[in-house]
Amino acid sequence: MPVAAASVDGGAATMGDPLVDTHGRVHRDLRISLTDRCSLRCTYCMPEQGNEWLAKSSILTVDEIVRIARVAAADGITTFRLTGGEPLLRADIVEVVRRLAAVTGADGRPVQVAMTTNGIRLPQLLPALVEAGLDRLNISIDTLRGDRFHALTRRDRLDDVLAGIAAAQASGLRPLKLNAVAMRGVNEDELVELVEFAVAHGAQMRFIEQMPLDAGHTWDRSRMVTQDEILTALSARWALTAVPGRGGAPAARWLLDGGPHTVGVIASVTAPFCGDCDRLRLTADGQLRNCLFSTTEYDLLPILRAQTSPGGAVDAGIDGMLRSCVFGKLPGHAINDPAFLQPARGMNAIGG
Ligand code: 5AD
Ligand code: SF4
Repeated sequence: MPVAAASVDGGAATMGDPLVDTHGRVHRDLRISLTDRCSLRCTYCMPEQGNEWLAKSSILTVDEIVRIARVAAADGITTFRLTGGEPLLRADIVEVVRRLAAVTGADGRPVQVAMTTNGIRLPQLLPALVEAGLDRLNISIDTLRGDRFHALTRRDRLDDVLAGIAAAQASGLRPLKLNAVAMRGVNEDELVELVEFAVAHGAQMRFIEQMPLDAGHTWDRSRMVTQDEILTALSARWALTAVPGRGGAPAARWLLDGGPHTVGVIASVTAPFCGDCDRLRLTADGQLRNCLFSTTEYDLLPILRAQTSPGGAVDAGIDGMLRSCVFGKLPGHAINDPAFLQPARGMNAIGG
């Protein structure tokens, strides 16, 4: 397939060509937000009273999601990552996983289906999700202390999350990743404990620098815990050796005392990895985004819901919109630019 000719002008490429942007980045990963709702209210993500939720009528149905996913897979997407809000709040989550896991990629191979979740519903749902074809799990856990968890998420649910992590540990899904946003005055003194907890649960801990994505727009650069600070804190306990060959992965990784266990850091603010970004995002209400931080969205709803279009025209429309979205992708985010504008949607409505 002629990569160089593909999609660069948003028009010349056709369905089945890879999704290459004007900076040469090939897109392989589609993050699909299934709902903006969540059972928690993490302060860095949502306001206390929740947001004005997306209208039910605008939420993509499973058929619509699968239709988009098939075209994306034909165009070279190899991983679907399901996010939210909280993806497990979707009543048809097992069917969504089952149908996405059945999609095959451009090369005829099955795609990978991963999920980022707060873990709360895993004890009930994980067996069915694994049977449906889920491949990988990331679970968010910012603190191991009940009072802190309650203050941070505004819900007293730490025990439910811990039960979810235990269920994930018992499942065969590996690698299992645990995510924590590192926060000044909140959990910065718990980083070593969190890594020890992850190792004890057969998981890899990953720390995320806090990004300006909270619906309350309260992010403050001077308050965020940086990658350097995270590594300094961990170095007091382990000898850290950088793992080479990160590829397009957002996390840089270090071996703990020579391995085999590792820790990851996602340094979106102090060490952006936009140059290798292979990700696109689909919101629960059918908007394609080429970056967490972009302020432009590409609306698939009118294409999907046009009553009169024959099926082939719908697929061609989805393909065209994927290419426009990729074509419009900027070289990187501008968090560190004084003129940076935070996107209007919070993280819960974009998808992590
Ligand atoms: N900065 C960094 N990470 C965030 N997440 C949610 N909001 C932010 C933010 N403002 C994380 C969650 C979860 C993943 C989906 O994104 O903690 O791990
Ligand atoms: Fe829910 Fe995740 Fe947002 Fe926390 S960060 S409120 S778990 S969507």
